[in-house]
Amino acid sequence: MAGNRNLNAASRAKKDEFYTQIRDIENEMYHYQHHFKDKVVLCNCDDPYESDFFKYFMIYFNQLGLRKVIATCYAGSPIVQTELDFFGTQNYNPHFDKRTQAIKLEVTEVTDLNGDGAADLADVKLLLENNRNVVTYLEGNGDFRSPECVDALKEADIVVTNPPFSLFREYVAQLVAHDKKFLIIGNKNAITYKEIFPLIKDNKMWTGYRPWSGGMWFISTAEDFDKVVDGKKLKNAAAVWFTNLDVRKRHEDILLFKRYAEEPELFPRYDNYDAIEVSKTAFIPCDYFGVMGVPITFLDKYNPAQFEIVGNAGSYGVDGYSLCPALYIGGKKIYKRILIRRRRND
Ligand SMILES: C[S@@+](CC[C@H](N)C(=O)[O-])C[C@H]1O[C@@H](n2cnc3c(N)ncnc32)[C@H](O)[C@@H]1O
Repeated sequence: MAGNRNLNAASRAKKDEFYTQIRDIENEMYHYQHHFKDKVVLCNCDDPYESDFFKYFMIYFNQLGLRKVIATCYAGSPIVQTELDFFGTQNYNPHFDKRTQAIKLEVTEVTDLNGDGAADLADVKLLLENNRNVVTYLEGNGDFRSPECVDALKEADIVVTNPPFSLFREYVAQLVAHDKKFLIIGNKNAITYKEIFPLIKDNKMWTGYRPWSGGMWFISTAEDFDKVVDGKKLKNAAAVWFTNLDVRKRHEDILLFKRYAEEPELFPRYDNYDAIEVSKTAFIPCDYFGVMGVPITFLDKYNPAQFEIVGNAGSYGVDGYSLCPALYIGGKKIYKRILIRRRRND
């Protein structure tokens, strides 16, 4: 799949410059708004002058009832001269060059500063221009692991961003170590990483509302973009949202219409593990209560009240979570599978 290839290449080359589009943030955030009242939100991989995450939280600051938004910027990010640049980076502060200087922005209110009857981005721009207290020049480079950024993390209730794909494992480990709520974007294959899968299995992290199919379109600074829309270079990546915020989708049952008793040939047994193969999530039989191997896209539909995740197969060695290194049927290796079992007979 083109998206998969793109993202793997990005990870290898540490090309982490995929910029999220505001409509994707709006579409996902719509399902979590109730979690955000009175909360401190941190966007810690986000140049506030360019990131649509920061822009989103400014636009929706009052609607969400936020207490504070903090954004930290990584020195070294390229300047993306797109419409993302809503404050006009070049003109706003001639002393700030994000290629060398990291900053932290802290906003605690968005009010109608210009008196035009609305509290909107024009007011945020005024706030940043007139109130230098909202901007802190960081001593370090704004790395999310640096002490200054970890202090910001400690202050935050919820972290929302699209972190660098190449540092996803470390990024999530830090969130978990600090016991933070989060809504972040990552490569869907991250699910099988040995650092990530245990979190999924133990229901400490799940994928978000947006369906997995089709990947996501990001604004790219690279030259190998897939298409140009409205002057923006867009690149498709096999990305999904990851979160530990509850979302309605996670409580919806998968409708099961196949019957194992009627079509057992559709569900062959693995050579090397006591489970049946279910090649498509839609084919999960309603009358089978043993272990089943399903594609990882099952997680897009996973309801933990309906199914238990037993383990993982095919991506890394045998351990507490990966029950066998790979599954075989008739000597043929089967692509990555998640091993599941029905919880209820209903
Ligand atoms: C995938 S991009 C996403 C940017 C932005 N969050 C968005 O969604 O539009 C990841 C960003 O993290 C920055 N970054 C890379 N390494 C970082 C680090 N160690 N700490 C913080 N940010 C980092 C990159 O420069 C890049 O701007």
